[in-house]
Amino acid sequence: MFDEEKINTLIAEMTLDEKLNMIHGNALFATGGVKRLGILPLVTSDGPMGVRLEFEANRWMPVGNSDDYITYLPCNSALAATWNRKLAFENGSVLGEEARGRGKDVILAPGINIKRTPLCGRNFEYFSEDPYLTKEMAVPFIKGVQEWDVAACVKHFAVNNQETQRLSVDVCVEEDVLREIYLPPFYAAVKEGGAYTIMGAYNQLYGKHCCHSDYLLGKILREEWEYDGVVISDWGGVHDTEQAANTSLDIEMSVYDNFDEYYMANPLKEKIACGEIDESVVDQKIARILKLMNRLNMLDGERKAGSYNTPEHRMQALLAARESVVLLKNEEKRLPLCKEKLGRVLVVGENANLQHAFGGGSSELKALYEITPLMGIKTHLGGNTKVMYAPGYCKDIGMNAPLDEEYPDVAANWQETSLNAETTENEREIQESQEVLQARKKLREEAIALAKTCDTVIYVGGLNHDYDTEGKDRSDMKLPYEQDILIQELLTVCPDMIVVMMAGSQVEMHSWIDKAKAVVWTWYAGMEGGNALADVLFGEINPSGKMPDTMYRTHADCSAHAIGEFPGGDTVHYTEGKYVGYRYLERYDIEPLFPFGHGLSYTHFSYQNLQLDLKANRIVCTIKNDGDIDGAEIVQVYCKNTQSADEDVKVLVGFEKVFLKAGQAKEVRIFVERMQRDDTILVGASIKDIRLCQTVC
Ligand code: BGC
Repeated sequence: MFDEEKINTLIAEMTLDEKLNMIHGNALFATGGVKRLGILPLVTSDGPMGVRLEFEANRWMPVGNSDDYITYLPCNSALAATWNRKLAFENGSVLGEEARGRGKDVILAPGINIKRTPLCGRNFEYFSEDPYLTKEMAVPFIKGVQEWDVAACVKHFAVNNQETQRLSVDVCVEEDVLREIYLPPFYAAVKEGGAYTIMGAYNQLYGKHCCHSDYLLGKILREEWEYDGVVISDWGGVHDTEQAANTSLDIEMSVYDNFDEYYMANPLKEKIACGEIDESVVDQKIARILKLMNRLNMLDGERKAGSYNTPEHRMQALLAARESVVLLKNEEKRLPLCKEKLGRVLVVGENANLQHAFGGGSSELKALYEITPLMGIKTHLGGNTKVMYAPGYCKDIGMNAPLDEEYPDVAANWQETSLNAETTENEREIQESQEVLQARKKLREEAIALAKTCDTVIYVGGLNHDYDTEGKDRSDMKLPYEQDILIQELLTVCPDMIVVMMAGSQVEMHSWIDKAKAVVWTWYAGMEGGNALADVLFGEINPSGKMPDTMYRTHADCSAHAIGEFPGGDTVHYTEGKYVGYRYLERYDIEPLFPFGHGLSYTHFSYQNLQLDLKANRIVCTIKNDGDIDGAEIVQVYCKNTQSADEDVKVLVGFEKVFLKAGQAKEVRIFVERMQRDDTILVGASIKDIRLCQTVC
């Protein structure tokens, strides 16, 4: 192992040029190394759902070989819906092993920003609206990654909660709110997860870009949290040489190929030469980078080799996808479907037939394969069942075929121009042109005509990465492509239709939800997503996912829109304070469409015997599976203190996922993060379905 002394000796041997080479991108995804001293470049790749495809060193042009297909894991929102810390660890471990297998040192994941609004284009990359759930999933994920001599790079530090004007918007948030809602996942990532690296966000906080904010990187991260890992800028997040050099940012990355002109390259060299900046600040950065390399066994010692696309990884993707499916509604026990009694089956909706891996922005993937819902349903049913498909709607009507999506290997990547001034899209106009409306009506009519001839209809719609995407927020929560009309018309002719929503963020459903008997929520759930969905639809797997976010009726019910601001202008004011997500609905008694933590099972559970153990910060209760099939319940613990103005709403403080055989009862012990005298502890199946309650005395 390299100790501090050895690191200092190494630094003393380096020229200024060699040092500078190590603190900025020397390729789009790598820094420069120092060959003479055996120091390798630090090689990064995106995350979070898998290791990104290989680009040429200095062009956003995919290399296009066949060796960079990978395991496509469920997105972070999906993982959060499992509420299963062990799965988070195992998924992190798959990502770490694949990153290492692909020769990477740093994987740019997980994204742990709080979902302040359902409209944020990158919500699918994040875990939850709730800081506790976010950190409880992020910490094991990071540990899983780092088992493989690969660094996790938690992102984006901090308050990167919207895509609109993301490169410049200045976030104005009360400091106590920052510390209560937005920073805890990062604190836990650093303190409990031991994240080796962290990525500075694009946006500003209190008038300073996060990548060179003294307050964020100096005061909070280094001083208060005593962080000794490496801080990497988001790609193009640095705007000033002096500030970047003097704060504790360690590595500057960007999307351009003029590597020597980066703020921490030649411009920094010049400032050091004329005495404006002291070389010792560079030494501090190098020391932290070498320490990181040491942690990854890059300097000496034996380093894990990793691997990718193993059968075990694919199995892990399936296990996680299965647990991420959320059964939102199941009247008259419409689900599970009995394979033998289906008759003629019709699958409607483009999401049944669409592959999503290669979309969404920097989290795009070259998946080894992706099982769509249609394929999952067909492979589960086999050739004796007639399964028909009608798109019902189609995303690309009226558009030119997007070449880069169809041929990911030959087109330059969107990221090349990602720092250019934002363009206002005329998507809505295209979507609403007469030609498109006509074509869509035809698709609807075809689907409805077919539906009338079928016995079982499964609708699979929702969003896609034209909406859930980096660089753009949605303008509302409405289902695109007139899906509301389509679903309503289908439900009129097929009242028993199963509705599956596949999306990375909430959508409006109120126009048809009362008519639909069975509604299933699924995500960008990885390469095995279609199989996982079919497992749930046909009852091979009992669903156990729960919503990691509030399902609002409309986005106007979300606090950022109701009492805060979104998306703001040059500045965005988080005037809603700590009332983010369910905290706001609780505070003002607003009914969600489906509450935070909601999710049904094919069995049912009862809760009994709540005991509070104040000393051990623990609650104990008994959960029983009262049905006749095995299942899993996510037991949630909330805390509230009506005496205190600060703790006036229920807040998630603990949870545990419990697997129970049919008829089995188990005593469950749950660690709670907060429990003080006079607190009321509420235990339940969602924030609105509280089964047990006791006040701490
Ligand atoms: C994103 C980061 C990503 C980076 C590198 C940026 O556009 O904000 O999340 O890791 O690009 O691709």
